[in-house]
Amino acid sequence: MGKVKVIYGSTTGNTERAAKQIAGAFGVEPLRIADATAADFEADLLILGSSTWGLGELQDDWVTRISLLESANLSGKKVAVFGTGDQSGFSDTYCDALGILAAKATARGATLVGKTSVNGYVHTGSLAETDGQFCGLALDDNNESEKTSARIAAWIEQLKQ
Ligand SMILES: Cc1cc2nc3c(=O)[nH]c(=O)nc-3n(C[C@H](O)[C@H](O)[C@H](O)COP(=O)(O)O)c2cc1C
Repeated sequence: MGKVKVIYGSTTGNTERAAKQIAGAFGVEPLRIADATAADFEADLLILGSSTWGLGELQDDWVTRISLLESANLSGKKVAVFGTGDQSGFSDTYCDALGILAAKATARGATLVGKTSVNGYVHTGSLAETDGQFCGLALDDNNESEKTSARIAAWIEQLKQ
């Protein structure tokens, strides 16, 4: 599989918990985007996580350091995105951050992997959704935290294939 990096931004710890579970499955330590450098974006599989804040915005640390992603050379690299949001409270912007990260990564030449079905979610709109699929792993610890761990486990299996 090559080198795997997990880089995330999290304000209240939800996305951080997910990042730890994901990174652990690949035998690596997750890295906060606040601590990341350009060299950290050199990986064969780059797994990027962000919660969504404001109305459909990236988590704050990602906002500050987004130039790292915008200037990364990702051609020939795989990128997967994940994050937490609130599909009931922010139904129209659910997990928008995933869509923002995915668009920026593909603009830098990455191949996006790890799409998932929107089946079972009740949101009404998301930048992360196209044709019945999320561009990555959408988690919701506000409304269905009991599903998070299994969703992560299934996604990891998908990424490892
Ligand atoms: C002020 C505020 C704005 C939010 N905006 C959104 C949003 O637009 N879309 C969404 O899916 N979730 C939104 N959320 C929910 C958070 O993304 C959710 O609580 C998430 O799990 C936080 O993850 P973190 O602890 O990793 O930062 C918002 C939460 C707050 C308090």
